[in-house]
Amino acid sequence: MTKYKIAMLVGSTRTGSINQKLARAIETTAPDSLQFTPVTMEDMPWYNGDLESNRPDSVNAFTDAIRQCDAVCMVTPEYNRSIPGVLKNAIDWGSKPPAENIWKDKVIAMTGTSPGGIGTAIGQQHLRQILAIQHAIVMPGETYITFKSPDMIDDAGHVADDSVREFIAAFGERLNKLVALMASA
Ligand SMILES: Cc1cc2nc3c(=O)[nH]c(=O)nc-3n(C[C@H](O)[C@H](O)[C@H](O)COP(=O)(O)O)c2cc1C
Repeated sequence: MTKYKIAMLVGSTRTGSINQKLARAIETTAPDSLQFTPVTMEDMPWYNGDLESNRPDSVNAFTDAIRQCDAVCMVTPEYNRSIPGVLKNAIDWGSKPPAENIWKDKVIAMTGTSPGGIGTAIGQQHLRQILAIQHAIVMPGETYITFKSPDMIDDAGHVADDSVREFIAAFGERLNKLVALMASA
């Protein structure tokens, strides 16, 4: 079986993050061919062009990690109808310099969860817009999840409800199909 490396980027690292729980659920329900690696974004400084001549180690570690993966899975909260600054900052670092843009032709799947009824829908639309200018290959379809109760997904990624688990598993299956398709292209 061909294995694909997937960088897992989560837009929240707070204790008890529901998006971290969703990320674990994706990992536990996805096909075995997908091998997920968590990649941190928090230790990078805010993007500043003055740092371009000597990029911080944290930035180089991040861009190297993304380059080594076949695809990226972004699981993110919606902040004020957009994405958290930590994710935007990581995208900005990765987009420069243009000739070395790490997002170009990269397969990227996105999802997210919030307690609200539209479950990150507007934040994801913003993210899709940001990734379009990067020439990323963004997975079609939309996967928004309302985190209805605190025990919907536990810290290990076990999903209480069968239909929610199947919905999350379908996201992983679609990512698997897309990454295999692009690898064969
Ligand atoms: C700064 C901030 C802005 C937020 N804006 C939104 C929003 O626009 N839409 C929404 O559904 N929830 C919003 N929320 C609530 C988050 O969905 C909720 O705090 C969620 O638990 C955050 O994800 P996490 O648990 O993975 O950290 C916001 C939370 C914060 C802290």
